[in-house]
Amino acid sequence: AGNRTFTMIKPDAVKDGHTGSILKMIEAAGFRIVALKLTHLTSERAGQFYEVHKERPFYKDLCAYMSSGAIVAAILEKENAVADFRKLIGATNPAQAEEGTIRKLFAKSLEANAVHGSDSDENAEIEGNFYFARTDKY
Ligand code: CMP
Repeated sequence: AGNRTFTMIKPDAVKDGHTGSILKMIEAAGFRIVALKLTHLTSERAGQFYEVHKERPFYKDLCAYMSSGAIVAAILEKENAVADFRKLIGATNPAQAEEGTIRKLFAKSLEANAVHGSDSDENAEIEGNFYFARTDKY
């Protein structure tokens, strides 16, 4: 039980073979994996996912990066899921990520920061729906 958040394991982390380690950390922290998918975004789809950032200077690079390789998308469930997951992944910029966080362990740069985590319950719902059809049970 609990509520839900959404995550993506980003192209660098998938390419480097960290998918299993990252999913293991997520489960060890008490999250239940509710939906899981490995896919490869086009830059158009990446652009839609990150639409809220479209005026930011990093948007174009981010879309290119997020479509540069396979990603793993997942819906996760736990009490206090959004906030607890953001604690588990650490600061967006890995240079500021706390010891023991997923980004501290696996992120390479501010852009290639290993994982995404939703910033609110509302965005978790929107982002989950971006990957997983409501016609399936989850
Ligand atoms: P994420 O949490 O997925 O949300 C937006 C992404 O943009 C972020 O992780 C980074 O991968 C990327 N990004 C690149 N530059 C910046 C920046 N200056 N500030 C925030 N995010 C950035």
